[in-house]
Amino acid sequence: MILVAGGTGLLDRDVVGRLAGRGIPVRVLTRDVALGRHVLAPLGDRVELVAGDVRDPASLDPALVGVDLVVGAVQGFGGRAAGGMRAVDIDGNRNLIDAAAAAGVDRFVLLSIHNATATDPLALSRAKAAAEQVLAATPMHRTLVRPTAYMETWAEVVGDPIMESG
Ligand SMILES: NC(=O)c1ccc[n+]([C@@H]2O[C@H](COP(=O)([O-])OP(=O)(O)OC[C@H]3O[C@@H](n4cnc5c(N)ncnc54)[C@H](OP(=O)(O)O)[C@@H]3O)[C@@H](O)[C@H]2O)c1
Repeated sequence: MILVAGGTGLLDRDVVGRLAGRGIPVRVLTRDVALGRHVLAPLGDRVELVAGDVRDPASLDPALVGVDLVVGAVQGFGGRAAGGMRAVDIDGNRNLIDAAAAAGVDRFVLLSIHNATATDPLALSRAKAAAEQVLAATPMHRTLVRPTAYMETWAEVVGDPIMESG
């Protein structure tokens, strides 16, 4: 079973669709199951949704039952009901990584960012670097994905104001 934390998001709803399309058992952690079901409606019952919030460690254990691999793709800014970078990207990722390690998960795939270092001027890069360090200290196998800004995100951030203001 693969648990995708952030599976309702821009990138990972596609990842979840691809996994489900290959018949791989996949579960999505979301703060709002009803909303998540709406977002992932095209996948029907091929995806399991579980309520949980990375800011609340106790809520993560039920989502991790029987899970071999976790994809950690949450972020705490932008989008719906953003919880903040410290609470989600730093502390929340730590909670998720610790809970996964304690549950005996074999591999953790962390959605990090290009140039994730403790001294980068970009706060998100420093937050991702902190999460990478927490992950490195666990016995889990790890995969770090370090993308630059997604074209869809960039087009929205840069393009929407231009479209709105002309
Ligand atoms: N977008 C970019 O340009 C970019 C660039 C580099 C790296 N990344 C990284 O790639 C990953 C995916 O990015 P994205 O843009 O696809 O994300 P997104 O669309 O903003 O989605 C964010 C996800 O985080 C989940 N989430 C937020 N707070 C949470 C909390 N407290 N507990 C549990 N889940 C929570 C949301 O789930 P619910 O709302 O269902 O709870 C949602 O699925 C992120 O880790 C991001 O930092 C993104």
